[in-house]
Formats: sequence, structure tokens, C-alpha cells
Amino acid sequence: MVSRVIPVDPFDLVIFGGTGDLARRKILPGLYRRYLAGQMPEEARIIGAARTEHDDAEYRGIVGDAIREFNDTPPQDGPLEDFLDRVGYVMIDARGDEGWDDLASRVREGAIRAFYFSVGPSLFGDLAERLHRYGMANDAARIVVEKPFGHDLASARALNDVLAQHFEEGQIYRIDHYLGKETVQNLMAVRFGNMLFEPLWNAQYVDHIQITVAETVGVGGRGDYYDKSGAMRDMVQNHLMQLLCLIAMEPPAKYDPDAVRDEKLKVIRALEPVQPHHIVRGQYAATPTEGGYRDDVEAPRSRTESFIAMKMHVSNWRWAGTPFYVRTGKRLRARTSEIAVVFKDTPHSIFGPEAGGHRNVLAIQLQPNEGMTLSVTIKEPGPGGMRLIDVPLDMSFAEALGPEAEEVPDAYERLIMDVIRGNQTLFMRGDEVEAAWAWTDPIIAGWEARNDVPKPYDAGSSGPEDATALTARDGRSWREIKS
Ligand code: BG6
Repeated sequence: MVSRVIPVDPFDLVIFGGTGDLARRKILPGLYRRYLAGQMPEEARIIGAARTEHDDAEYRGIVGDAIREFNDTPPQDGPLEDFLDRVGYVMIDARGDEGWDDLASRVREGAIRAFYFSVGPSLFGDLAERLHRYGMANDAARIVVEKPFGHDLASARALNDVLAQHFEEGQIYRIDHYLGKETVQNLMAVRFGNMLFEPLWNAQYVDHIQITVAETVGVGGRGDYYDKSGAMRDMVQNHLMQLLCLIAMEPPAKYDPDAVRDEKLKVIRALEPVQPHHIVRGQYAATPTEGGYRDDVEAPRSRTESFIAMKMHVSNWRWAGTPFYVRTGKRLRARTSEIAVVFKDTPHSIFGPEAGGHRNVLAIQLQPNEGMTLSVTIKEPGPGGMRLIDVPLDMSFAEALGPEAEEVPDAYERLIMDVIRGNQTLFMRGDEVEAAWAWTDPIIAGWEARNDVPKPYDAGSSGPEDATALTARDGRSWREIKS
């Protein structure tokens, strides 16, 4: 296969929080893989910055260990050494002056400079202000910020304001790592690269849409953060919202950052407030051998949800009357992310009711086995009259594309390279994040006002019983959670 890797321009990437969990698990191993793929030019430099005291050599040791621990395949000594030659470290006090002159002297004129804020949002303002004060916030500078981007609309606005004091919107890259997943981008390719689907992609032909992001892991180890967030803030406000936008949006005029983000924003703004009886919150219960959610977060009376299912409506011409059922949760029966577009029945069955009622379903599997299935109704083979059955037109991307499907960069790798290239298409704009919070806030406020308590569900199940009732009440059913 001919390599399609195009090296990016020379850059200095400064990672604030360079010794933290995200840097060690995702950012540094991701950069190493891009280096191996030939995408990092010779002149690229990575500078870790954090509070603890290390020299360059010690930090290279930390980075090497992180790559050995978190890269899927063990690194070879030669390439790893070459990569580490590009790595340096600056001890920095985000709230003081220590280290900033040193950092400023290391960031080179003429190279792209990217500053990754892999730290808590309470430091965003301090970092942005000092980058400016120490002369590093020039036109070639860009900053990368992680989720959670705020806790509600007010805090998200405050973060946007503080960043806007020192950087233009075009320099701010808000990460939602779901947008970096290959198959999530494929949603746009499927919708806007094929004639087949678009004419049917509306309330006239689509009965409903299901979006499921199910995880088998619990929240152990992240209890402090998670218990203040819950599934709504941790997954729905960002990742599921982004999936819904890509499914529901109008075709942008072109694949360019503002055209795409304008259309997503319109979807978020068209979301109706969700009725309380259209939401089911759940919390995984203890098993005889393992603790439940409340044990994991060490809060015996916690009312935070580790599961949520809801029925949403996008109030516009295309989608009026078509429900979007979305659900996500921890400790469910399988790890899977899937979007299913369930089409309506044919208007009239020429085969009579005894032939059976059948529906076309386009199921897009985002992870772990990327692919698409379109169920099509055919005649059941053999004698016995005209009986109908559904068969899947099944396409696993790994099978269809062979080795190319395996060479796909992980979400963080792709997104970091997009930062260097200066392409914001797969990053959230400030107004998008604010609109998402504006929709989320009243729902959470409602739970708080009602002292809403999530329903317990068994670990390894599909969530609480009430979630089943949410679709059953409408004469519909969730698709099975399976990987
Ligand atoms: C993160 C959430 O943003 O996404 C986690 O904070 C969640 O709670 C994770 O587990 C899921 O990401 P992925 O890529 O494993 O689907």
C-alpha cells in the first residue's frame, strides 16, 4: 500500500500536565505512533511541563515508560530513542512565575506552537494569561483544551471568556475525542458521500433512531470526578450529543470547520427540552463479589447516574415527530457503540399481514467492530407461500478494507495532528459547547429539584427495567447490547 501519511510542518508541542494520566496514556503514545508513521518532521519538539522537578533526561525516562506501558505493541529501542531525542521538560508553576522564562526560551520562532492544557479547567485562565504575558501567544500559537469543558453553562461561558481574553476562537481546539474516531467521521462519509441514504434521511421515512454507547467498565479509580458529573455530563452533553448532531444535521455546503460546526449547532439549538418521564437514570448495583456504583465512588448515598436513557426530539422540518432514543452507561453487558436508523414500514403490504411486518434498519457500529449492516426484507426461501424474512447486508470495515482498516490512527493521534495542521473541523466551537450546556442544564436542575434517585440495575445487564419501558411505551424496542 502506498503511504498516504503527509508530514506536518515543524512544531513545538508543549504539554501542560506532561506527567499526568492523559499525557501518559494517550498523548505521548499517540505522538510516538505518529512519529513511527513518518508524520512528525525531524524538527518537531515535544516539551512536557508540570509542577514536579525533572530534568530532560528524567522526563524522557517517564515518557519511555509510558510508551512501553500504554502502546499496544512494545516499542523498539532504536526508534524509541530517536523519538525521545525530541522530548524535553520544563518545570513550571502555572499560578506563579517559575519556569515561564525557561519555557519561552525553548519555544522556537518560526515553528508552529501548540499548547496542550492537559490539566484541570481551573488552570486554563492562568496558563492562557501567562502564555500571553511571556510572549508565546503569537499568531502561530494554538491551545488545546480537554473535556470537561465546564460543568454547566455558566462555567463553560466563564472558560470561553477567559480563553478569549488571550486567544482567538480560531486558535482554540476543544477536544471531544469521539470526533477523532475513524468511524464517527465515517458517519459524515456515509451520509454525504452516498446518494442512497440522503433522500430517506428524514421523518417521512425514518421511524426512529437509536444511539447506544455501552461500556463494561465501572467508575472505579475516577470516583471523585465521576460522582460530580454522572453519565449526563460525562457522556451525553458531549459524546452522544456529537453523534446525534452528525446523524441529524443538514448537509454542510463543504467539509470545512465552520460549515460543519454551523450545522451541528443548529441541531443542538433545535433540541426540545426533554420531559422528565422521557428520561431514565440508573446506577449499577453491587454483586455478591463486586461493589456497586456507590462503593466505587465511596459515597453510600450518591444520587449520580451511571446510566441514562432518554427520548429526544429535534424540532425542525427534517425530524419533527421522529424520536431519537439515546442511552449510555457503565458496567453494561457489552462494550459497544452503535447508531441504528430504523426506517418505517412500507405503506401497504401487498403480501398480506400473515407475511409478517418488516423494517429496514441501517445499523452503524462505531466500536469495537466497525462496520455497517443494512437489514433488507426478502422472501424466505423454499415452498410455503410468500413469507418474508429480514437478512443483513453486512459490511465489516476490517474485512472490506483489509490491512488499511488496521492502520487507522487512534482518536488522539488524529486530533493532535489536526491541531498542528490548523484544522478545527473535528473540534467543538465555543458556541456549540455553550448550546449543549444550555440544553443539559435544565434537565439536571430538574433532577436536583425533585431529588431524583437513579434506579439500580444489575452489572452486566442492559440497564434498568424502566429503560425498556421507555421504548416499549411507544411500541418500539431497544436493539440488543452486544459487541
Ligand atoms: C470519556 C469519559 O470521555 O469517554 C469516560 O470520561 C468514558 O467515562 C470514555 O469511559 C469512553 O471513551 P471510549 O473511547 O472508550 O468510548
